[in-house]
Amino acid sequence: MLRVKKLTKKFGRKYANENVNLALDSGEIGVLLGPNGAGKSTTMKCILGLLSFDGEVTVGGKPVRSVEAKKILGYVPETPALYPMLTVREHFEFITRAYHLNSEKAREYAKELIERFRLTEVLDYYCKDLSKGMQQKVSIICALLPHPKLLLLDEPMMGLDPHAIKELRVMISELAEEGVAILISTHLISTVEGIWNKAYIMRKGQILSSHKKEEMVGIWAESLERIFFAETESYDSVWQTPSPAKTPAKHTNTVSRPNTSKKKKATNKKKKK
Ligand SMILES: Nc1ncnc2c1ncn2[C@@H]1O[C@H](COP(=O)(O)OP(=O)(O)OP(=O)(O)O)[C@@H](O)[C@H]1O
Ligand SMILES: [Mg+2]
Repeated sequence: MLRVKKLTKKFGRKYANENVNLALDSGEIGVLLGPNGAGKSTTMKCILGLLSFDGEVTVGGKPVRSVEAKKILGYVPETPALYPMLTVREHFEFITRAYHLNSEKAREYAKELIERFRLTEVLDYYCKDLSKGMQQKVSIICALLPHPKLLLLDEPMMGLDPHAIKELRVMISELAEEGVAILISTHLISTVEGIWNKAYIMRKGQILSSHKKEEMVGIWAESLERIFFAETESYDSVWQTPSPAKTPAKHTNTVSRPNTSKKKKATNKKKKK
């Protein structure tokens, strides 16, 4: 559903993305993790065709800038971009018309999402008068209404209350079961534990490593947070425990831990001496 090859984006002389490769099939939930400024949002904006870039991005086999690709893309931006003087209800009507959705079905789907996100009481509020979390919920519903086949969620849990986070996790899993490919960037790693299939760890515009859940074993399959820190912080501080239970199982995925093998070899040499 999503293929990203050698995506490179420069702002002036600075690389925000460098040779980023990503792939998601229908029904997969991919997670993009990385420290602030790693290039996660820029990657998403390039996938959406909102920014110019070098490299190749296809959505459903179509170039990202084509109308066919745009029709099946949904996006929840880092910061909700709503119309301040439209009410919540008017936003959903606007999306229904803009995407030429069947109004009856769209209304039904919106009703379901509104109830799940507990937004019923604010339907006639102007969006400028909503709390941050409520705006985020409206933004998510707007992205879901057209039934996208590829959904890009940039920090979707930000500002949501615990009930909404739980509900969104369930929604994401349901959508994946229906065949939607979903790419999520988040700093709240615990909120995607247990639902992800693929994880990409980014740093300084590059993908450090990618991990397939099905190929991870034991504690490594359960703790995305552990993987994140192992890749982005000091390797030694996380991997020093010699206990077999904490040693990553051998797997065949694309995990690479830069510098770590050299560090290990150096340590071994020291020991031998
Ligand atoms: N419009 C812009 N002009 C210049 N530089 C930019 C622009 N947008 C992003 N950058 C730079 O690109 C790099 C990647 O930014 P990006 O927003 O993609 O990071 P991020 O991983 O989403 O970070 P965060 O976790 O804070 O959301 C940063 O160094 C940022 O300063
Ligand atoms: Mg970002």
